[in-house]
Amino acid sequence: MTDLSELFKLFDPTLGTIDGLEPIERRLVDLHTMFSDKQAVTAALQAENHLIYSVTAVQPDEGDGALHYGIGCIMPGRIGDEYHMTKGHLHSRRAAAEVYIGLQGEGLMLLEDERTGSSRTLPLQPHSVLYVPGATAHRTINIGASPLTYLGIYPADAGHDYGAIAERNFRQAVICRNGEAVVVERSDYLRQLERNTATGS
Ligand SMILES: [Fe+2]
Repeated sequence: MTDLSELFKLFDPTLGTIDGLEPIERRLVDLHTMFSDKQAVTAALQAENHLIYSVTAVQPDEGDGALHYGIGCIMPGRIGDEYHMTKGHLHSRRAAAEVYIGLQGEGLMLLEDERTGSSRTLPLQPHSVLYVPGATAHRTINIGASPLTYLGIYPADAGHDYGAIAERNFRQAVICRNGEAVVVERSDYLRQLERNTATGS
């Protein structure tokens, strides 16, 4: 029988924390390879290896049919023009889906179908519920001025596969252009950064 304390938790939707549990912190150095603007990464790291996001996972039970869940909190900010984001992952068990519930802030969820390579972007905001199908890489992005917090609920045996994304990154990036969040092809964004470097702009 699952322990009673595992059946009930209090969470803080503003801080993105769960009472009594220690968040795992991801700082810039942990995902510096994910951001496309390497000059901006270097400059930011020289200033401070700042917090990008934290996650707190709850694993009340294991086995067939069991669920795990977690709360995430992405701090506002950008590296160059690219908004703060999570590493992103696939589930080790590819068929495992996930439900996200937006709590606070203004964000986006980037979905990339592993089988087709096609991408979709969905709003992640308060009162929104997002369904992430199986075999779909998913990354959350904070495009607002305050912390973005959300809950994610997934099968206990889903597992997290960060390797595939660490190798090739997502095909699309979310960047700020003229004050607006826009979704661009990462390859185009990288070419633009190269041009900027070449022309010194
Ligand atoms: Fe997930």
